[in-house]
Amino acid sequence: MKDIDLKNVPKHIGIIMDGNGRWAKNRFLPRIAGHKEGMNRVVDIVEECCKIGVRTLTLYAFSTENWKRPEEEVNGLMNILVIYINSQLKRILENNIVFRVIGDYSKLPDSIVKLLEDSINKSKNNNGMVLNIALNYGGRAEIIASIKKLYDDILKEKFSIDDLNEESFKKYLYTKENSDVDLMIRTGNEKRISNFLIYQLAYSEFYFTDILWPEFYADNLYDAIYDFQNRNRRFGGI
Ligand code: FPP
Repeated sequence: MKDIDLKNVPKHIGIIMDGNGRWAKNRFLPRIAGHKEGMNRVVDIVEECCKIGVRTLTLYAFSTENWKRPEEEVNGLMNILVIYINSQLKRILENNIVFRVIGDYSKLPDSIVKLLEDSINKSKNNNGMVLNIALNYGGRAEIIASIKKLYDDILKEKFSIDDLNEESFKKYLYTKENSDVDLMIRTGNEKRISNFLIYQLAYSEFYFTDILWPEFYADNLYDAIYDFQNRNRRFGGI
């Protein structure tokens, strides 16, 4: 395991958990078996991030485009989400984690919406790591939803257009209470953003790995953080 500097852990880590399908295919298993194993890595990585003091962890679990997948896979993913919450909520609460969802989760089945809201409510007074699960999430959809909320506030005279700047706009994003993403990890050997947190990634460090998500363990997370800690972040300066 790489020796990371615990005083310089990225405050906000975002992860595109890619490669579940290929992991399953390599083993002649149905794709859903890859998502199930992927859920086990979510459990591990949440625990590890919490342990090393990450402030916010945002996981891309279901995009606005994932509805295009076969119904069986979409239903399977929803099922895994339910299994995750039912098996992990107790630990999430014990670890003082704030559970949140980003994305328009109202489009998910009613029983899941209820489960998500119940989990959000139960953990809302915690003050440890924030775990954002991105569900029916798209970066462009988030920006458009933010503009609609902003416009509504302008109509209600709660916000003046003269006060609009990069900082005040952030308050309309799903991640309004989180800092920008410091480290964005994508597993599964693809090098693209896929509509993930496009506003919040403006100054992030990107880490791409060919490891498939079901094989991304704590030591791989340490490799990514070690790499991050050895970069020179200039934020446009010199
Ligand atoms: C991308 O791999 C992965 C997803 C679309 C789903 C991610 C979901 C999980 C890891 C399940 C558990 C999540 C939570 C938060 C409980 P892919 O299917 O596109 O892989 P492929 O590119 O190899 O086909």
